[in-house]
Amino acid sequence: MKYSEIPSGTQVSIIIPTYNESQNILKILKSIQDNLPKNTRTQTIVVDDNSPDGTGKLVEEYMQSVKKFANHTIEVIHRKTKDGLSSAILKGVQIATGNTIVVMDSDLSHPASLLPKMIDALKHPKYDIVVASRYVNGGSIIGWTRKRKFLSRLATFIAKRGLGVRTKDPMSGFFAFKKPVIQGLSFDAIGYKMLLEILVKAKNASVLEIPYTFTNREFGKSKLDSKTIFDYLKAVWKLYRYGKEANKEEGRKSVSFLSKAGRFYSIGAIGLAINYGVSSLFTDVVSDLWYLHATIIGIAVSMSSNFILNKVWTFEDRDFEPKHASIQYAKFMGLSSLGALAQLAMVYLLVDHNKMDYPIALVLAVATSALSNFVLNKKLTFKEKVWS
Ligand code: GDD
Ligand code: MN
Repeated sequence: MKYSEIPSGTQVSIIIPTYNESQNILKILKSIQDNLPKNTRTQTIVVDDNSPDGTGKLVEEYMQSVKKFANHTIEVIHRKTKDGLSSAILKGVQIATGNTIVVMDSDLSHPASLLPKMIDALKHPKYDIVVASRYVNGGSIIGWTRKRKFLSRLATFIAKRGLGVRTKDPMSGFFAFKKPVIQGLSFDAIGYKMLLEILVKAKNASVLEIPYTFTNREFGKSKLDSKTIFDYLKAVWKLYRYGKEANKEEGRKSVSFLSKAGRFYSIGAIGLAINYGVSSLFTDVVSDLWYLHATIIGIAVSMSSNFILNKVWTFEDRDFEPKHASIQYAKFMGLSSLGALAQLAMVYLLVDHNKMDYPIALVLAVATSALSNFVLNKKLTFKEKVWS
C-alpha cells in the first residue's frame, strides 16, 4: 500500500481525509509536493472512506506513476465505510510517524503554501498547536454563502462561550500540532470538529494562529449537512461534560453568576442552530411543507430544547416530576415570549423615537432582553437567588 518506505525519521505527517474528491485529490497532492519546506522528511497520509467516485484508487495509481520524491512519501488508507471527518483524521494520526502532524482538507480550500510557515512555527518550543485561522487579522473567506458564514460564526460563538475556548478559529479544519500534545488523551471524534476537541482536551497547550484565506472549493460538494450540525452540538455537549469532570478533579466547583449567564447565552445560540437545522431538515426532507410551517416547527423545537438544556445544564435542575416541570416549562415559554416582545418594543422605541441606527438598537435590545430573560428565568422559573 505504501508508495515507498518512509525514510528513517519522518519529521512531518500530513493527514488528508477524503470522501468523493476525485477532482481535487491529485491537485492537492501536487501542491503539497511543490510547497513542502526544504530538507523536511514528510509523509502524506490520505484517509479515504471507500469513496464511490474512486478517489482512493486514483491515489494508488498516482503513487505508482510518479517518480520517488526525495523527501516525501505518500500513502493511502482505505476505510470500508464513511465514518466521518474527525474519525478519519484520528485514524491518520494513529499511523503517523512524524513528530509534527498537519491536518488539511483535500478540496484546495486550504492553501498548501501555508505549510512551511505552520511547520516552522512548531519548531519553536513556545508553540504546541498552530491553527490556520480565518478569524484573526489578515484572515478571510472567499466564496461562502452568507448562510454558511453565519453558521460558522455561530458554531465558533458556541465553542467560545460554552467551552471557554480562546482560539479565534477553533472550527478550522487546517491545523498542525506536536504529536506529544495529544498523548494519553482519548477522543470521541464525532463529526467535523477534531481541532475543537484537541483544544479542549489539551488545555495547557499553547496555540499560535496564522491568518489565511479560505477559498471555497471549485470542484465537488461540501459534505456538511444537517447531520453535521447535530453532531457538532453533540460534540460540544460531550466536551462540556468532559471539562466539568476535569474541573472536579482539580477541586474547582465554583459555579458563578457569570458562568451560568455564559451557558444561558450559548444555549440561546445553540437554539438558533437547532432552529436552523430543524427548519432546513423539514424543508429539505418534507419538501412540500410550507416554509413558514417549517419555521414554526423550528421555533417550537428550539424553544423546548432551550428549556431542557437550561434546566439541566445552566441551572443543574434534574427534577422532572411532571407537574413541577410543566409549570417551569410554561413559565420559561412565557418569559421568553415576553422577552421577544420587549425586544421588539425596545428596537421600535430606540429607532423611531430616539433616532438610533437600527443595528445598534438591535444589539442593545438583544443584549438587554437576553439579560432580563436570564435573570427572570433564574429567579422565577428556577427559583435561584439572582446573584449566585
Ligand atoms: N475520510 C473522510 N470521511 N473524509 C471526509 C468525510 C468523511 O466522512 N467527510 C468529509 N471529508 C473530507 C472531505 O473530502 C474534505 O477533504 C474534507 O474532509 C472537508 O470536507 P468538506 O465537505 O469540504 O468540508 P467544508 O469545506 O464544508 O468544511 C471545512 O472547512 C471548515 C472551515 O475551515 C472543514 O475543514 C471543516 O472542518 C472546517 O470547519
Ligand atoms: Mn471544503
